[in-house]
Amino acid sequence: MKKILTSLFLLFVLVNIAKTNPSSFTIHVIGDSTVSTYNQSVYPQTGWGQVIASFFHSDRAQINNVAIGGRSSKTFFTDGRLNSLKSQVKAGDYLFIQFGHNDRYFGTNARQVPLDSFSYFLEIYLDSAKSWNAIPVLISPMVMNAWKNDQMRNVFTEEGSDYRGVMENLAKKRDVAFLDLNTKSYEDLKSWGFSYISSFIYHSYEPEDYPNWPQGSNDGTHFQENGSVSNSRWIAEEIASLSSATHLSNEAKSSLLPLINALKPLHPVEVKTNKNISGILSKTALFPAGAPLTLRVKAAEGDNFEYWADENCKEVSRSKIYYGIKAPDKATTYTAIFKGGSTCVEATPPPSSSSESITSSSSVVQNPIEILSWVDMANPDSGSGSTDTNHEGFTGDGFWNIDNFWGSQAFYQLESKNASTNAVLAIRYANGTPDARNMKLSLDGWTYLLSFPPTLSWDTWDTLFVEGVWIDAVTMPLVLESESEQGGPNIDAIGFSVFGLTRPSLSTSVVKNSKNKTPMNPVMSIFVFDAQGVCVLQQKNSSLEEDRLLSVLASGTYFIKGVQNGQVLLEQKLRVKSARD
Ligand code: GCU
Repeated sequence: MKKILTSLFLLFVLVNIAKTNPSSFTIHVIGDSTVSTYNQSVYPQTGWGQVIASFFHSDRAQINNVAIGGRSSKTFFTDGRLNSLKSQVKAGDYLFIQFGHNDRYFGTNARQVPLDSFSYFLEIYLDSAKSWNAIPVLISPMVMNAWKNDQMRNVFTEEGSDYRGVMENLAKKRDVAFLDLNTKSYEDLKSWGFSYISSFIYHSYEPEDYPNWPQGSNDGTHFQENGSVSNSRWIAEEIASLSSATHLSNEAKSSLLPLINALKPLHPVEVKTNKNISGILSKTALFPAGAPLTLRVKAAEGDNFEYWADENCKEVSRSKIYYGIKAPDKATTYTAIFKGGSTCVEATPPPSSSSESITSSSSVVQNPIEILSWVDMANPDSGSGSTDTNHEGFTGDGFWNIDNFWGSQAFYQLESKNASTNAVLAIRYANGTPDARNMKLSLDGWTYLLSFPPTLSWDTWDTLFVEGVWIDAVTMPLVLESESEQGGPNIDAIGFSVFGLTRPSLSTSVVKNSKNKTPMNPVMSIFVFDAQGVCVLQQKNSSLEEDRLLSVLASGTYFIKGVQNGQVLLEQKLRVKSARD
């Protein structure tokens, strides 16, 4: 076991967990036609219950979508559908419940549920879940494509029809998770605007857009695949924020942890054009690996679309609606190429986390990622291990030497001035053994499995990058946990590609302002490492002249080390905002 885990990479770690994971569960999804699963024959019509599986690690969460069109909270129950679910639910499973569309009361159909009876029916679901030892999750209905005087309406919060509010109050009363899909969808869809959402989100198409809909479709209630992926994303974002939900008891929160931890990381898919066009283009958005992707361009006359290019500027489709593809396990870019536009520019390749020895490079290289906030990790708020200084090359107060056993932990409380942003996380570490060491990092309710390759010695530091880290909170617990019997590597510092990440327990920032001069300035060999741990500059018999460094280095964060007769005289971080870029 030990050997396998230390010698295989992340993928195999994940597979290994898949086989042994005791915390695997099923999410049973109950709802109406905005949630249900559709046949290929009506593609791209899709309910979110059909596509949400790609937002969860499949070894931890399976989806059982039993949502069905035309049902309200009342008729799903009176049909006997809740009852027949009973035999499929096991203790620890989740019950996702979204109703509202068919409940809206006009007094015209028996399925409709007057507002003051809505909680009565919802409670039946909560009581059933409880009696099955399952965890209920209430999801407010997403908005419809309804507008009045150029303002988007939210039909589920209007006076006399506040089904969202009733659901939220019930969730508070019953100490149950509430995912506010209604507000999330309203905020985004309103800002995206009527024309965008009518063509790219709702189940509404022009003739010939899709072979299954030769006459087109005009439907402001249901969703096309891209819209259901958006609904799933809003749901996933709401799940991720449950650990900081103020209305939930600690007991309720801990019952939700397996769900939160089962979420997959999201990566940006950037969509751009090579030319300013008047028209609409798919929005850049975050996707988990494997989520279905639709790229679409609707240009005005005169703008001649030629093809879609991938991040390497390779042509991938000549169709204005490009679908049938899946989001990759990393950030990527697609460009809509128009006649007469500029030449496609390849996306910057992702940084490699390989280590490079101090003597192997002496030229200046471009630093692809700017790490803007560094946090010293030498002293966790709690944890098992020690703060050490017995190896060279650390920054700040030392490094954290985590105890050498499986499950040893270090806990740090972070604060972020940035909400709802995607960042690259950089972890400066040393692993002086010949084998990779694996750790689980939990941040803001998301979990990342990391494999730290050897750095050759305990005095050599490297940086591991984690892309697509989602930051969506003011205070964020960060927990590092060893997934190897040998514990984790030594951890020096953690950085983020966004500003404003700090540890409130540290009184001063460890990042030195590049304008300050070092007081002591002897002649020595100076080595400058970029945020990946690659030596980008080496000067023999030199004194530290920051101004000179500023003129040759690209913007970024660097580690500077000064050595004289084998003795390290200087170590500091330098943040460069260069006029060169
Ligand atoms: C050595 C090394 C420590 C390190 C430890 C480990 O003892 O000096 O800094 O933490 O190995 O294996 O984790």
